[in-house]
Amino acid sequence: MLPLRVLHVAAEHFPQVKTGGLGDVMAALPLAQRRAGMDVRLVLPGFPAVRAALIEPIDSIWVGPIVGSAGVRILKGRFSERGIWVYVVDAPDRFDRPGSPYVDAEGRNWPDNASRFALLSWVAAQLARGVLDRRWHADILHAHDWHTALAPAYVRFAGDSLPPPRTVFTIHNLAYQGLFPADVFASLCLPPEAFTQDGLEFWGLVSFMKAGLVLADRVTTVSPTYARDITTYDYGYGLEGVVMARGNDLVGILNGVDEKEWDPSHDPHLAAPYNRNRLSGKTECRKAVASEYGVTLGDGPLFCVVSRLTHQKGLDLVLEAIPDIVALDGRLIVLGEGDRSLESAFRAAVDANPGKVGAHFVFSEAQAHRVIAGADALLMPSRFEPCGLTQLYALHYGTPPVVHQTGGLVDTVIDVDSAGLTLGTGFAYLPSTTEALTAAIGRAAALFGDQRRWRQVQRNAMATHFLWSRAAEKYHELYQSIATRKNS
Ligand code: ADP
Ligand code: GLC
Repeated sequence: MLPLRVLHVAAEHFPQVKTGGLGDVMAALPLAQRRAGMDVRLVLPGFPAVRAALIEPIDSIWVGPIVGSAGVRILKGRFSERGIWVYVVDAPDRFDRPGSPYVDAEGRNWPDNASRFALLSWVAAQLARGVLDRRWHADILHAHDWHTALAPAYVRFAGDSLPPPRTVFTIHNLAYQGLFPADVFASLCLPPEAFTQDGLEFWGLVSFMKAGLVLADRVTTVSPTYARDITTYDYGYGLEGVVMARGNDLVGILNGVDEKEWDPSHDPHLAAPYNRNRLSGKTECRKAVASEYGVTLGDGPLFCVVSRLTHQKGLDLVLEAIPDIVALDGRLIVLGEGDRSLESAFRAAVDANPGKVGAHFVFSEAQAHRVIAGADALLMPSRFEPCGLTQLYALHYGTPPVVHQTGGLVDTVIDVDSAGLTLGTGFAYLPSTTEALTAAIGRAAALFGDQRRWRQVQRNAMATHFLWSRAAEKYHELYQSIATRKNS
């Protein structure tokens, strides 16, 4: 029997391009799906780091000028000898830019983002339809986030008699929607009927996100709780009605941990290895990271933040909680990059609390590993959180998370006080206020004072396994429910 053919399209892929969890997902999920027997391929934009990582492209498909680009070539290759096939959209006028995939060095959206990501989506749709690589087509085209949300539209409006692939659209974050002025529509190579209320039109604007939501055969998001959250006014960002209209076509499937990348017993970034039964290495990691961040350890816990610095992540609450952390003889280290005003507020907090608060404003995978391993507890006060991978890594590294009870944080962290010491893996609080956060920080510090009980929670946390293999199974069930060819 032929395996199910799945084509993923996304803007990020770890380690070549990563601004957050999307990059991690795109590196891990396709591999887990291949292990589960699917024929999985990937389409990525030709950012310099992506092209550079491609080993021996075996094929180069010339497409020519399309969707506003001067000329497009598709490179087919792999990132490692036995890796999965990757199609790279080589369009230098669109993607040959260093740095972030979305913004320039000043943090402004690239002015041609609509064309850039329409092009990515268009290529994915044509590859899935078997129009570009005549030796392969997809049963399922799986698009991720607004950057690729036009892919289902290009399939739906292809305007020929080729059997279409089935489409799945995954929302990793509904807050980023890809909204553009209406006049952008003319450049998208879509027929006028696509620009209606049942398509891309959203309050007179072009909405990429809405295209994915309305036109994909199935919509998923990255946790069951967030799937419910986004049907509400508070979390729907204006699209709650559209989300609700999809009814049972919307499911939440939790992300996982890539246990090869994130394994404290074999992590090349750490000062010392450790595992659930031998936590002594974690103490060495703690000392090393404290000195790396210029803090002198106290009797209280060493809290950490590893995060994009954005409103979503609720880090203004952490800033307000610093006096309480310090009063508990706790320490705080922050690894984050993003919003300049949050950065300067944390810089001021470091200056005001020498030796007690430390911060590095860079994006560093190695530091992320060291901070999560060395800290005692992770702070994740996100206002909303579709899934969250950082808390999953923290659990896996025996670093109990302190989380706002929202989205994927609800589905992955078990509160010690509600569930008891035999089950608890962290500290969850409501509502999203500084008071509730500091109360949870206080509970964590109190438990930390009793090291025997603290160790128990660390071990509970390390015993949780959010496996990509389980996510792969769930996606497989979903694909099977819509595929026209019912084999696997
Ligand atoms: P989001 O995708 O919303 O940013 P996630 O928790 O799903 O949130 O994923 C964040 C990912 O980005 C994690 O892999 C985390 O370790 C990483 N990360 C965030 N900030 C940094 C940073 N400054 N340096 C290195 N890694 C970071
Ligand atoms: C988004 C979300 C995050 C999720 C990640 C991967 O960036 O903000 O919660 O874990 O995507 O799905």
